[in-house]
Amino acid sequence: MKFFIDSGNVEDIREAGELGLLDGVTTNPSLIAKTGRKFEDVAQEICDLVPGPVSLEVVGLNWKEMVAEGKALRKYGDNVVVKIPITADGLKAIKALSSEGIPVNTTLIFQPLQALLAAKAGAAYVSPFIGRHDDIGQDGMLLVSEIVQIFDAYNFETEVLAASIRHPIHVLEAAKMGAHVATMPLKVIKQLVEHPLTDIGLKKFLEDWHSIKA
Ligand code: G3P
Repeated sequence: MKFFIDSGNVEDIREAGELGLLDGVTTNPSLIAKTGRKFEDVAQEICDLVPGPVSLEVVGLNWKEMVAEGKALRKYGDNVVVKIPITADGLKAIKALSSEGIPVNTTLIFQPLQALLAAKAGAAYVSPFIGRHDDIGQDGMLLVSEIVQIFDAYNFETEVLAASIRHPIHVLEAAKMGAHVATMPLKVIKQLVEHPLTDIGLKKFLEDWHSIKA
């Protein structure tokens, strides 16, 4: 399973990268706005910092605008993946960009047929939003498992990118289902390594070690 960080914060991205497990980055307009910085600066810094795929989202709603924006976003690096929302215009843009070899991450996926359409249009990734589904009392993990099942049935190369991850159980369940990628905030990446019994065990080992008489 690949790990992406879901962030526009360059310091968080750098810290995640230093763990040596970071495969890529996803951003969205809200995450960029949260930085309070200019999009151009943030996008360039992230693309220079991380060698793996960096999803940058278009804001146009018309498919021709999306295609033009998507092509322009590639100026930040060859690692740019164009993030496109799943709409009828989005599908046209996915098809156009993908047929030119530009990878697309389809965002705001909330039901499995949206993912099927994006895969048929040639998307490199689909991003089902787990946490936002859970927020309204629906099962976000079920969405991921249904998409994995459909893609397996037809051998799509499109990768399932589990998004809107809020806690480690989302990552665990997505991994068990065979999602190709999980994108998560730095806080969740850090939580993955933690267990209170590890801390207690380590403390006891060191206490015992230091009690040994020379
Ligand atoms: O970047 C897409 C997705 O991961 C957003 O997550 O937490 O805003 O629902 P969230």
